[in-house]
Amino acid sequence: MSDTELDHLAVASGRQTLADVPAGVNPELSIEHVSREFTAPDGSVVHALSDVSLSIYPGELVSIIGPSGCGKTTLLRLIAGLDHPQSGTLSLAGEPIEGPNPKRGYVFQQGSLFPWLTVEENIAFGLKAQGIYKEHEADAARYIEMVGLHGFEQAYPHQISGGMAQRVAIARALIDHPDVLLLDEPMGALDSFTRADLQDRLLDIWEQYHMTMILVTHDVDEAIYLGSRVVIMTPRPGRIKEIVPINLDARDRVSDEFAAYRKQLLTKLHFDAHEEHAGDAFVGDAQELLTNETPVDKED
Ligand SMILES: Nc1ncnc2c1ncn2[C@@H]1O[C@H](COP(=O)(O)OP(=O)(O)O)[C@@H](O)[C@H]1O
Ligand SMILES: [Mg+2]
Repeated sequence: MSDTELDHLAVASGRQTLADVPAGVNPELSIEHVSREFTAPDGSVVHALSDVSLSIYPGELVSIIGPSGCGKTTLLRLIAGLDHPQSGTLSLAGEPIEGPNPKRGYVFQQGSLFPWLTVEENIAFGLKAQGIYKEHEADAARYIEMVGLHGFEQAYPHQISGGMAQRVAIARALIDHPDVLLLDEPMGALDSFTRADLQDRLLDIWEQYHMTMILVTHDVDEAIYLGSRVVIMTPRPGRIKEIVPINLDARDRVSDEFAAYRKQLLTKLHFDAHEEHAGDAFVGDAQELLTNETPVDKED
């Protein structure tokens, strides 16, 4: 892609939407008719993903939202190459995704740090394992600074807060210079102040590196605040219900426009819950979304 196209995609102050994608730009990530089934312990078949198709363009930040069990983690694991679909294809920059690759960084929900390693050692773990730490030592310092962990390099995971631990996990993924950063509810277990801080840090990183990011979240506000598009998923079978483009002039959580998107998304999620699953446990999941509290992902 040329610099002009990249400049075009990196809309400095606002958001990149599909309308901003120049004609002729190919999707960076193509997911076509992907299905993934699992066999539950009782022998029943779980349709975790059914005929899911999605194109994501270079430099986009896309949010994926939906209740527990709708296949969000399954989809991210397929994109990461940690799992394979039974049918359909996934490709990145035209190349089929066949296995894990540091170019697709993955940030887990929580608890993914090695407790016996310091903050710095956790971040540099991959580089050391590849035997390339020395050349990238300056990078490690830069990412520690970027996620605001300067001064905590020698701390162990039990000595830092949950928000800081997630910043370590993000820095650890960034250090491999991924083209695509996959984030599986990285802020799901954080209090709302810490979450807001981390959301802004993620945006800074996204704007600075023009990186493609796919963020799975339970939180409607987070999906709108960060995403240029919000992909709504529904379960049983897991599929994409709708994709809502977000066109906000500014990232302002208390604007009328923001409130209108919140209402729109909550209505869609709530409506789906009652329309398709009235009377079963799924309704409870949708209500978690509506109360906007921090739900525990029962499936994780
Ligand atoms: N390895 C597995 N074995 C059996 N069932 C699984 C496995 N992974 C996921 N599932 C099932 O697939 C569905 C989707 O799971 P998941 O992708 O984790 O949903 P989400 O991340 O949206 O909560 C759930 O019903 C879950 O129980
Ligand atoms: Mg999940």
